[in-house]
Amino acid sequence: MPYHFDHRKEYLLLPGLGDHPRADLGPTRTPLQRAGRLGDELGIELYIKRDDAQPLGMGGNKVRQLEFYLGLAQAREADTVLITGAIQSNFVRLCAAACRKLGLHPVVQLEDRVPTNDPLYQSSGNVLLDQLYGAEIHYLPEGEDETLADTRLDSIAQDLTKQGRNPYVVHLGTDHPPVGSLGYALAAAELRIQLQEQSNDATHLVVPSGSGITHSGILAGVQALNWDISIEGICVRRQSSLQKPRIEKRATEAASLLGTASISPDSVNTHDEVLAPGYGQMNSQVEEAIQKTAHLEGLLVDPVYSGRSMAGLIALVRRGHIKKGSCVVFIHTGGAPALFAYQNQMDFL
Ligand SMILES: Cc1ncc(COP(=O)(O)O)c(C=O)c1O
Repeated sequence: MPYHFDHRKEYLLLPGLGDHPRADLGPTRTPLQRAGRLGDELGIELYIKRDDAQPLGMGGNKVRQLEFYLGLAQAREADTVLITGAIQSNFVRLCAAACRKLGLHPVVQLEDRVPTNDPLYQSSGNVLLDQLYGAEIHYLPEGEDETLADTRLDSIAQDLTKQGRNPYVVHLGTDHPPVGSLGYALAAAELRIQLQEQSNDATHLVVPSGSGITHSGILAGVQALNWDISIEGICVRRQSSLQKPRIEKRATEAASLLGTASISPDSVNTHDEVLAPGYGQMNSQVEEAIQKTAHLEGLLVDPVYSGRSMAGLIALVRRGHIKKGSCVVFIHTGGAPALFAYQNQMDFL
């Protein structure tokens, strides 16, 4: 059966999805919710796609990506899954949760990417949850080096193979196919159907752009659907001059996984005006976004990803790139567990 769970219509729209195994992590369809008070404040018609409300392990965008990575792990009869990420990685936390749901053993590598010795950052939030899920934790003190992170993970996997295990490695480096992007091509189809059901003609989607798997999957999905909508990627990890070519490459690879045409560079928008001082570090725009979203909508966004992309949306409206009165969908990718790890850095409270 090429499609499963509650996504039959989406598989009919994107038949290439049926060529890829997908693990059952529970229902992954999420609500599309009007955010009237925040929208009024910004002068736009604002909707929020609530991927933060995914049921598994406190939710977030990585659930949709893991359906496809772990589908492959299951197809290869893996018994152990390895993943690497920042100390406060949501991907690592959700991979551990998903592994436990599927009866796989989670091995995680935590990279020292953010310059802080704050004990809460090192031990609370996602780290606490990794421990709760019983993940086997390794550390990579060298920090920001994607190739090294993957190489170290591969060598842990080799040791496990020697011990008789069958490991599957979730690689995020750009020399491996962006398998998880299929989850966001599927999400694009899901969102398209929801908007059509509401006769909603949104003109912009706003999404955080980090490893780029989410952004490129949405781009590939939107293009395969012949959907005329502008996708605004908010840089959360590297500046636009590096992120844009990365997304062009990843989205073209995502389209190839879907069996559709390659991506036009004109459709790749990346914005880095709220990135400073760098990955995972607070700034006043992110603080404002976290507060506004909480105070006007009762929703939680985090300092690293969803709060930064909300700050990016606010900046795009203020500088007129998104015109007043436009209808915008903000993809809420989750991340709230990291709020607890940033408690000492939220001196605006
Ligand atoms: C909550 C959250 N939002 C957004 C992102 C960025 O997504 P991507 O890495 O697919 O660009 C991440 C990545 O870790 C995340 O954890």
